[in-house]
Amino acid sequence: MITKIKLLIITIILLVASIVAAASVPPLPDYKKWKKSSRKVVTDKKSLFYGIHYIYADQKAFKGYKSDNRFPEGSRIIVEHFNIKGDVSSSDGPKNMIVMMKKDKRQTATGGWLYAGYTAKGKPSGLDPVKNCFECHQKEVSSRDYVFSGISDFQVSKGVAP
Ligand code: HEC
Repeated sequence: MITKIKLLIITIILLVASIVAAASVPPLPDYKKWKKSSRKVVTDKKSLFYGIHYIYADQKAFKGYKSDNRFPEGSRIIVEHFNIKGDVSSSDGPKNMIVMMKKDKRQTATGGWLYAGYTAKGKPSGLDPVKNCFECHQKEVSSRDYVFSGISDFQVSKGVAP
C-alpha cells in the first residue's frame, strides 16, 4: 500500500515537473561572447529567415558542431535576426527577433531540444515551440540532431574579427 502511494506521489511530481519544464521560457543568456557564425543573408521574401542573421554557439554547442552535429546536454544555440536595410550587401537593418535552441532531455515532444523565441529586446515572444519551430526542424534535419547549420558556418570568417 505504502509503495503504491509513493509511486503515485512520484508520478505527480514528475508530471508537474514536465509541465513546468514545457511551459517556461528561460531568460536569454549573455551570448555575445560565444562563437559567432559568418554573416548570413536570406533574400527569399517567403522565407522565415528573410533578412540577415548570425548564429551563436556556446562551448558545448561548439563541441557538438565539431563532432558532426552530435550535441551534448545543455548545448545552447542562438540566432539573431536583422531586417534588410536597402541593399542586401549594406549594413544590417534593425534587429527583429532572436531564437534559441537548448539541448534538454526533458523536452521529449520537441526532439530533446527546448525551442524559444524572443523579441528584439530579448523578451519571450510566446511562439509555440512545436508548431512554430520543431515541425520545420524535424521535417528537414532530424538526421543532424535537428540542427540545420554545421561547423562550416563558423569557419568561413577565419581571421576576421567577429
Ligand atoms: C520553416 C522552417 C523553420 C522554422 C519554422 C523555424 N526554423 Fe529555426 N532554422 C531554420 C533554418 C533553415 C535554419 C538554418 C539557418 C542557417 O543555416 O543559417 C534554422 C536555424 C535555427 C537555429 C540555429 C541552429 C540551426 O538549426 O542551424 C536555431 C537556434 C533555430 N533555428 C531556432 C528556431 C526556433 C526557436 C524556432 C521557432 C520560434 C524556429 N527555429 C523555427 C528553419 C526553421
